[in-house]
Amino acid sequence: MDAIAEVEQQALTEIGGSKTTAELREVELKYLGKQGLLTGLLRQIGSQPPEQRKSFGQQVNEAKDRVQQIIDERQQGLKGGEQAERFQREAIDVTMPGRPVAAGYEHVLQQAENKIKAVLGGLGFRFHHTPELEQFKYNFAVLNYPRDHPAMDDQDTFYINDDLLLKTQSTSFQGHVFESTKPPFRAFTIGRCYRNEAVDRTHSHTFHQVDAFMVDEKVSMAHLKGTLGLFARAMFGENVTVRFRPDFFPFVEPGVDYAISCPFCSGEGCAVCKQSGWIELGGAGLVHPNILEHFGIDTERYSGFAFGLGVERIPLMAHGIDDLRYFLENDLRFLEQFR
Ligand code: FA5
Repeated sequence: MDAIAEVEQQALTEIGGSKTTAELREVELKYLGKQGLLTGLLRQIGSQPPEQRKSFGQQVNEAKDRVQQIIDERQQGLKGGEQAERFQREAIDVTMPGRPVAAGYEHVLQQAENKIKAVLGGLGFRFHHTPELEQFKYNFAVLNYPRDHPAMDDQDTFYINDDLLLKTQSTSFQGHVFESTKPPFRAFTIGRCYRNEAVDRTHSHTFHQVDAFMVDEKVSMAHLKGTLGLFARAMFGENVTVRFRPDFFPFVEPGVDYAISCPFCSGEGCAVCKQSGWIELGGAGLVHPNILEHFGIDTERYSGFAFGLGVERIPLMAHGIDDLRYFLENDLRFLEQFR
């Protein structure tokens, strides 16, 4: 019987000494586990005198129950302490000011694109997406380029295979629109173009173009000039005028290149317009009748105009940037100026 009291006392001392629930669990196993010291006493029942066996067993079980109860109480106490300590360790001060989040902003080319979209949308042109990986037929063939025509050399092309290429001009969207839309319509697209060109301050292998065209009854060069005037004034300022000069593109007849009077010097001559008073923007003209006929459009009834320009030109001019390579380099010191 003394042995029971001794083991119980030893257990109680160790329970009192345990500082964490993990330590307490070890004490529990040591005394009450299957191989535990108190549990082990039950195996000594057989060696007790027969008349004492029953009471020996009872006393061991009672001692076990007491120890278990003390362990349970101790565990509650330790858990509470550990939780309080964890709460203290993980406490956050909700009154502290938050860490600033780095917010993104639109790339300067995106800003130009958004403005173009708003202006052309306002003139009734509908936006169309155009694939960057394009079929030869949309980039050249349906745009009235005869096969092997030297005009295709103007736009040194990245070919993927005989049929697929990286589009060299966003005029490639015309065929897609003709296939899905019946005249009358006004459509435009903005997208990336690629040309296998030597890179310099004004030329890149990767750049952006906007193209717009309109097909309706009796569309003439006067409509083209009026629309380009509205577009240019909305983009560059109220006093801007548009100039046409004859030019050749296989997909327009007649074809022109167009320039706007320099918005910085009102045509007087300055560094931006290289003293000429004019800034070249792109190409334009009346949609070639061969294209309309190719898509089954009655050329007696319908005609159309088309124009295209480089998107980079706009921020280059507006911000006096002298090198379009900055647009692709992603140097934050450059980009952050246009937040
Ligand atoms: C064309 O690409 C015609 N598709 C434009 C057009 C559309 C004419 C509709 C008639 C009717 P061009 O090759 O000139 O034309 O390019 C138009 C504009 O794209 C240029 O004025 C220039 O601003 C820009 N551009 C052309 N090549 C590059 C380049 N390598 N890097 C940067 N911008 C370029």
